[in-house]
Amino acid sequence: MAVETIGICYPRPRRAPRQYSGGFNQYVERRLLKEAGYWPPDQYKILHPFGGMAEYGLRVDIQRFVNGVDIRPDVIGDAHCLPFPDNTFDVVILDPPFSADYAETKWNTPPPKFKTYSTEASRVTKEGGIVIVYHWLAMPPVVNTHLVKRILIEGRRYQHARIVHFHRKDTEAYRRRRPQTKRLHLSANGNGMSDA
Ligand SMILES: C[S@@+](CC[C@H](N)C(=O)[O-])C[C@H]1O[C@@H](n2cnc3c(N)ncnc32)[C@H](O)[C@@H]1O
Repeated sequence: MAVETIGICYPRPRRAPRQYSGGFNQYVERRLLKEAGYWPPDQYKILHPFGGMAEYGLRVDIQRFVNGVDIRPDVIGDAHCLPFPDNTFDVVILDPPFSADYAETKWNTPPPKFKTYSTEASRVTKEGGIVIVYHWLAMPPVVNTHLVKRILIEGRRYQHARIVHFHRKDTEAYRRRRPQTKRLHLSANGNGMSDA
């Protein structure tokens, strides 16, 4: 089935301390929650493993102070090893540092490991819930989920565009009727691909 794809533009920065420049643009977080089907936010369990100064839900952050700003995380912790049981949250929003270099220079944090933090996000998401990956790259699939929607966001001038993937965590019913994709094999001479 085709994955719904939407393009939007949110050019305004959100109101936040000047020293904390890495947050969502104004209204973006609200739009992501609405697109995921979790609005109003007080009715759902929302988690930000890279919390920063996100507005809605529970914010985990590896540090309390960023560039001298007290970001007051709800939980100090590491997105790669979350202190929550399996199947806890309706929606988990991943807005990590976008590269190892960025982590070091902008946040003074260790390099993010996509496979590890996305697997953690999937683990703590309820079956049928949504893992949102917000990034400047199209990131790989998330374990035990399937892609249901993508949004391309144009922001401010000279700001990288964002690619947002919405992954729904597989339910038992989904696993039973999951579409069977054909396997691709290299052809005998190794020069091309052919269906199995
Ligand atoms: C891009 S910002 C998130 C901004 C947030 N979405 C907002 O709107 O304010 C990334 C945040 O992740 C935090 N961070 C970096 N590495 C982390 C890790 N391993 N675990 C938890 N938080 C981490 C940084 O301290 C920073 O506050």
